[in-house]
Amino acid sequence: MKGPVSGEERGSMKDLINKVAVVTGAASGIGEGIAITAARRGANVVLADIAADRMGRVTQRLKDECGVRALEVPTDVSDPEAVEHLAEAAYAEFGAVHMLFNNAGFSRYGASWDMPMEDWKAVMDTDFYGCLYGIRAFVPRMIAAGEPGHIINTASLAGLVPTPRSAPYAAAKHALVGLSASLRYELEMEQIPIKVTVVCPGYIKTGILQRLGERISTATSDLDRKLIETVTAGCESGMDIEEAGRVILDGVANGQFWISPNGARFEQSIRDLHQNLYEEAF
Ligand SMILES: NC(=O)c1ccc[n+]([C@@H]2O[C@H](COP(=O)([O-])OP(=O)(O)OC[C@H]3O[C@@H](n4cnc5c(N)ncnc54)[C@H](O)[C@@H]3O)[C@@H](O)[C@H]2O)c1
Repeated sequence: MKGPVSGEERGSMKDLINKVAVVTGAASGIGEGIAITAARRGANVVLADIAADRMGRVTQRLKDECGVRALEVPTDVSDPEAVEHLAEAAYAEFGAVHMLFNNAGFSRYGASWDMPMEDWKAVMDTDFYGCLYGIRAFVPRMIAAGEPGHIINTASLAGLVPTPRSAPYAAAKHALVGLSASLRYELEMEQIPIKVTVVCPGYIKTGILQRLGERISTATSDLDRKLIETVTAGCESGMDIEEAGRVILDGVANGQFWISPNGARFEQSIRDLHQNLYEEAF
């Protein structure tokens, strides 16, 4: 696992030995897959999650299975002060951060026009602003350190194609795709050696739907039932979290801006959307 890497690869995210990765939403799902894959490739990991009680299992896996250092920092990413504290704790422990995975996220179910505003705000606060707070806390520190770095934002295919009954999620993920693309150009323009990746997963087998809230079980129309059945079946038969972690870390090592684990089945929807744009708008 921890074999030698050529001189050319040193400093890039191909060689993760002794690199430091911060992963938000690391207590389960895709975040766990990222954390375990990064650790297997030699990185020390800072785990951040709002569910402080669920992080210990993953931390123990990293130490036992991978023999790396792992630090748990309970963090609500929707709170900018908590994210600032996460950065302080990561730098205090390791002295450097090379990869920030802004991955924490969740959705709420309902129609755009009658979903409670508190649900709209909660999703935007975590799925969009949580990532922005991460960028604002870590990028200045990475620039000051002068070492190569990488910001990896977990958006979704919902950040590219329409997803009914989860408009706050779609809005937050579209915004995150836009933020990632702008950030990438800003860093490139100034020749700052920090890369940016946006991850747009298709269905991954995680517990995300269990955290969707009670409205998913009270949605009673035939249309809603069908939609929920489709999404549930998609997640249940989705890509395994560790495979998703490998796809993401491989894409990061290749310096890709776009990574879409298990996204191929949505390729035609994205092509159709763009075709429609060309035909109608220009
Ligand atoms: N599972 C999929 O099919 C899928 C598809 C596309 C995108 N995604 C995205 O992947 C990311 C990870 O989701 P997942 O599927 O692994 O779900 P998950 O529920 O297993 O993991 C999400 C983690 O984020 C944590 N979290 C939620 N709010 C937080 C907050 N405010 N601060 C800190 N941590 C918080 C949760 O406690 C949980 O551990 C999310 O951004 C999600 O939108 C998932």
